[in-house]
Amino acid sequence: MRSRGQRAALLCRRLVAEGTRHVHRRAPRCSSQSISGRSRAMTEEAKKRAAWAAVNNHVQNNQVLGIGSGSTIVHAVQKLAERVKQEDLNIVCIPSSFQARQLILQNGLTLSDLDRHPELNVAIDGADEVDLDLNLIKGGGGCLTQEKIVAGYAKSFIVIADYRKKSESLGEQWKKGIPIEVIPMAYVPISRALAKRFGGVAELRMAVNKAGPVVTDNGNFLLDWKFDKVHNWREANVAIKMIPGVVETGLFIDMAERVYFGMEDGSVSVREKPVH
Ligand code: A5P
Repeated sequence: MRSRGQRAALLCRRLVAEGTRHVHRRAPRCSSQSISGRSRAMTEEAKKRAAWAAVNNHVQNNQVLGIGSGSTIVHAVQKLAERVKQEDLNIVCIPSSFQARQLILQNGLTLSDLDRHPELNVAIDGADEVDLDLNLIKGGGGCLTQEKIVAGYAKSFIVIADYRKKSESLGEQWKKGIPIEVIPMAYVPISRALAKRFGGVAELRMAVNKAGPVVTDNGNFLLDWKFDKVHNWREANVAIKMIPGVVETGLFIDMAERVYFGMEDGSVSVREKPVH
């Protein structure tokens, strides 16, 4: 007598062998699908734990808060909305993207801007990768320029991420390159200047479900610079910003004060800025 798992595996193999004839049938979940489903759930849980820790530890009454972009910040905004309601907190939120603005509004939080609130108490945001010095790669979701502005005017910049973003050195985990926002007319000479000066290759980010390139919230293009060696990131960041047509880089150097990583085992690991 075969177990349920064995029967499901057999049926999976048969359906694959039979091709598309059976697509209308309710196929059992193949084990690889369950594994990726489980790992997605684990990653989501890790994001949530990191986000909740940051909101619980850094949000207080009467603050102006910077709201980052991406998928991890969604959990932070939800937790924030819950706390604001339960504790009757007076919190003003400054968005770092169109997505952040929508999140703030959808969660019933108070939306403001840098004109009215040019100084922030805390900014909370995700990251694509974090090294031991708390240097970050950001911009995987294309929102790096406004994110850097919002974080740059906050007294404290707190990062939330899952375990996949925790590195010793940039490039160890994040293989998609460093996002660089550029003025559209200059993307070709900028790509060439990057490769000539620093090596690697800079590719124009193309849109999905739309023909042509990704256009940022600021109406610009993005280059993803796939570097081929570890650089002095502080120097590289300054030099890249000096290339005519570069708007901003996704290198966030010496900005983050603390990073919360949600880990695979359900714990939250905290990385502080090292004292040199
Ligand atoms: C948006 O452009 C990014 O800088 C995000 O903050 C970063 O990509 C992290 O996103 P996730 O929270 O989705 O991993």
